[in-house]
Amino acid sequence: METQYQWYPGHMAKAKKEMEESLKLVDVVIELVDARIPFSSKNPDVDKMIKSKPRVLLLNKSDLADDRVTAEFKKYYEDKGITVAVTDCKKGRLDRVMEPVREVCREKIERDKKRGMINRPIRAMVLGIPNVGKSTFINSYAKKACTKTGDRPGVTKGRQWIRLSKELELLDTPGILWPKFEDNAIGRNIAYIGSINDEILNLEELAVNLIDFLHEYYPGNVGERYGIEENGTGAEILPAIAIKKACLKKGGEPDTEKMARLILEDLRSGRLGKVSLERVPFV
Ligand code: G4P
Repeated sequence: METQYQWYPGHMAKAKKEMEESLKLVDVVIELVDARIPFSSKNPDVDKMIKSKPRVLLLNKSDLADDRVTAEFKKYYEDKGITVAVTDCKKGRLDRVMEPVREVCREKIERDKKRGMINRPIRAMVLGIPNVGKSTFINSYAKKACTKTGDRPGVTKGRQWIRLSKELELLDTPGILWPKFEDNAIGRNIAYIGSINDEILNLEELAVNLIDFLHEYYPGNVGERYGIEENGTGAEILPAIAIKKACLKKGGEPDTEKMARLILEDLRSGRLGKVSLERVPFV
């Protein structure tokens, strides 16, 4: 039977409560998901928590995902009425974010104007499960010499705002939610991208599943990367790759565990190509 992926950090309830407090302070939520697994990396509680607050969904790490699938996911969420931006926070194509933020905050901007508060910046909070790029997003802005505006009266101590421009202030601490392991495929997807500690995973099993997935959706990627024929199942291909790459144990047997780790590293760094690990469902 396949390993059941489970992961319950203890401080989840506290973090959630803090986030609910922070949500009261902001005009807009910038929710990050991993473009390779938009469903699996999207905590369904966000919708309940943010209610009708304006939100922009970032399909981040788009540089690692399959552009065609990312475009399908963008359309899927847009059809649900969610404003979406496709981003690569590492290379900082963040200009894409301000436009949709303005768009979802249009009502607030109009309201402020009517009240004569023309220069009140939009206040935003970044939110998402671990490893989707929240800190990278915040830091890429913070690096651009933005001033921290310090604690505010009535704001929980420790909360800092980064003034990005006259127009936008960002809460410097992201809201962290945890993935929902609603079915095992979600756990596996989160494990693929490296958001679960590898020490607690069966990496061989994970790599075997990955090879099968890639063989079906991206035929040729594995063969090309490792110089093998993609014949047989993942369980057969994994040792074949280990032999080809001379990844062997002392007795000359293929070291499938070590090879599995290398294959997962290759996936995570994009060396297996731009790969999306899930698909838009038929609706
Ligand atoms: P988090 O706050 O949501 O937990 O995520 P964090 O920003 O720490 O990002 C997790 C990892 O993802 C980091 O890599 C970061 O560089 C990388 N990352 C963030 N956004 C993008 C993106 O758009 N594209 C790509 N390719 N990577 C992204 P790391 O390996 O932990 O650190 P480092 O090697 O960058 O130092």
